Amino acid sequence: MSDYVIRPYTSEDNAPLAVMWNESDDQWPGTFTGGVPMTEEQVRDWMDEETCLMRLVIENSSGGSIVGYGSLWETAGRKDSCYVALLNVHPAHQKRSLARRMLTQMIDWATEHGYRRVTIGTWPANLKSVPLYKKVGFHWVPDLDVFMENYIPAVRRMGFGQDFFRQHDWYVTFQRELEQVADEQRHPATGDMKVFVFRWEEDGEAIEAVVDRYAQAITGVDTADFAAYAIVDESEPAQGHRLPGALASDQQAGRAGERLCAGRWRDGDRLEPPGLLRAGSGRDAGRRGDVRLRCRRAEA
Ligand SMILES: CC(C)(COP(=O)(O)OP(=O)(O)OC[C@H]1O[C@@H](n2cnc3c(N)ncnc32)[C@H](O)[C@@H]1OP(=O)(O)O)[C@@H](O)C(=O)NCCC(=O)NCCS
Repeated sequence: MSDYVIRPYTSEDNAPLAVMWNESDDQWPGTFTGGVPMTEEQVRDWMDEETCLMRLVIENSSGGSIVGYGSLWETAGRKDSCYVALLNVHPAHQKRSLARRMLTQMIDWATEHGYRRVTIGTWPANLKSVPLYKKVGFHWVPDLDVFMENYIPAVRRMGFGQDFFRQHDWYVTFQRELEQVADEQRHPATGDMKVFVFRWEEDGEAIEAVVDRYAQAITGVDTADFAAYAIVDESEPAQGHRLPGALASDQQAGRAGERLCAGRWRDGDRLEPPGLLRAGSGRDAGRRGDVRLRCRRAEA
């Protein structure tokens, strides 16, 4: 029975990493190495050039080999977002939850270090990876083959998320369909807005967060204490126009400081209301008004 340790990469891993990449070659479309076996020196030069946030390796302690690698990078120009650049598990060691454990560690790290969003890319026919990515919270952005976004760090960092996840394991209680299709989602409370829905449930307790795909921000929450949604009436608004919007909150119990955002991302430009709508003390419940969208350059 193999024993595995997931730990940060060190330069001692260059030689066993070269072996891992050579033995993983056939798993990648067109091969990983391009047919030229990788050497320790090449891995060393490659690793020396990288400036990533986090590099994990999986050590097989019974054989002393490295059987997995994953790296996390900050998204260029975005302090709130990072991406999984590379992920590989040696073919002889797959289906043992090793990639999943690397990903959950990366998402934990991103949450603790103030990131709100983690992204990942893969190829559409990668049947091994898409269900796994969905299971740890990535949502497949429609029309992008395959680019996936995960807002679990943002949800876990909000007050209601911190309360829930003190009691419940975020991975075990996450509710998710795993089909190999893009996540074209809507939510009854936010109508035609294009969203991703994140839901956790355990022992009769549940929380749900709705993320506006264009604003790349949480636009609705539903907890045992309150439900609140920042809603814009127009799902595809023109840039620079005033836009009717509302904060719908079901009762008095909204927590001050929980911030929701209604906004849009379009044609490479980020559109946001001038201020984030707040769900606070029921004060804003049912408030309607124009949300003036302003424009900011999109970074990625
Ligand atoms: C993709 C890859 C990293 C997955 O590695 P792995 O270690 O075999 O994956 P894991 O065993 O950790 O993860 C599978 C998880 O998804 C779940 N899963 C996978 N397919 C599933 C399905 N169809 N239905 C339900 N659950 C599924 C498993 O149950 C497991 O979850 P668990 O840990 O809670 O049991 C590996 O196959 C690989 O290296 N492939 C080649 C390179 C590659 O494709 N890299 C990614 C490129 S972006």
